[in-house]
Amino acid sequence: ACILMLVAVMAAACGGGDKGSSQSTSGQAEAGKEAAAGGEKKVLKVGTDAAYPPFEKLGPDSKPVGFDMDIIKAVAEANGWEVQIEHAGWDPLFEDIEQGKRDIAISCITINEKRKKKYDFSDPYFDAYQLIMVPESANVTKVEDIKNMRVGVQSGTTGAALAEKILGKGNTRLKGLDDTPSAVEELYAKRVDAVVGDNGVLTDFLKNSGKAGYKVVKDPNVVPEQYGIMVKKGNKELLDGINKGLKTIKENGKYDEIFKQYFGEEKK
Ligand code: ARG
Repeated sequence: ACILMLVAVMAAACGGGDKGSSQSTSGQAEAGKEAAAGGEKKVLKVGTDAAYPPFEKLGPDSKPVGFDMDIIKAVAEANGWEVQIEHAGWDPLFEDIEQGKRDIAISCITINEKRKKKYDFSDPYFDAYQLIMVPESANVTKVEDIKNMRVGVQSGTTGAALAEKILGKGNTRLKGLDDTPSAVEELYAKRVDAVVGDNGVLTDFLKNSGKAGYKVVKDPNVVPEQYGIMVKKGNKELLDGINKGLKTIKENGKYDEIFKQYFGEEKK
């Protein structure tokens, strides 16, 4: 913790107001060696649920890649931190942070009051909202319309909470899956009639899964959400560094560069 604080203090001292001079980090491999050899550099453990394209998915070498990964790498670089990113899965991710097994979770995690009681969140880094994915022929314009349907969700998500609110807790027509692609598979297999989930990932499925005949519906009355980077409750120095890093990459254009790479220009 001391080392981290020192790094943060140093970064603050060097980086303040000096735009465009954040190339102070050593190469990944070099830092890895240093850490393996028991060097000084602190390696922060980052976890994600890498089944959420284009935000996080497993790359060719089974390492998570995506928008969130690029964001956390840029935030780390702005602080002079090294990060080691691993796929953890959704539920384990929360437990890992709580138990201190990982330092940082980035996984399109919506900031909400319930989670804020148990975890700390960075400033928001992405705006999102819920969508309902249904066959094109389905008569759905608002979230209440799924009340009598079989609905697939990723368990433990805000989409699951919304569906639960409409169908009622414990309703057997509500099918909770471990990840969002599995929920969409249930829809394709006609074992559910609708899926509720975040806009970014459902839109990506619609565009890239090659399955025709589906649409996404937005209910304008459902409250929008914002994603935050999550840390163990009370880990203020880490959180401060993350927020400072986010601010830096928003100011120096790095955030926009990453955003464009994944979402094009139209979305902002
Ligand atoms: N934004 C939603 C939530 O926080 C879903 C996020 C799921 N993320 C993931 N990588 N599976 O509940």
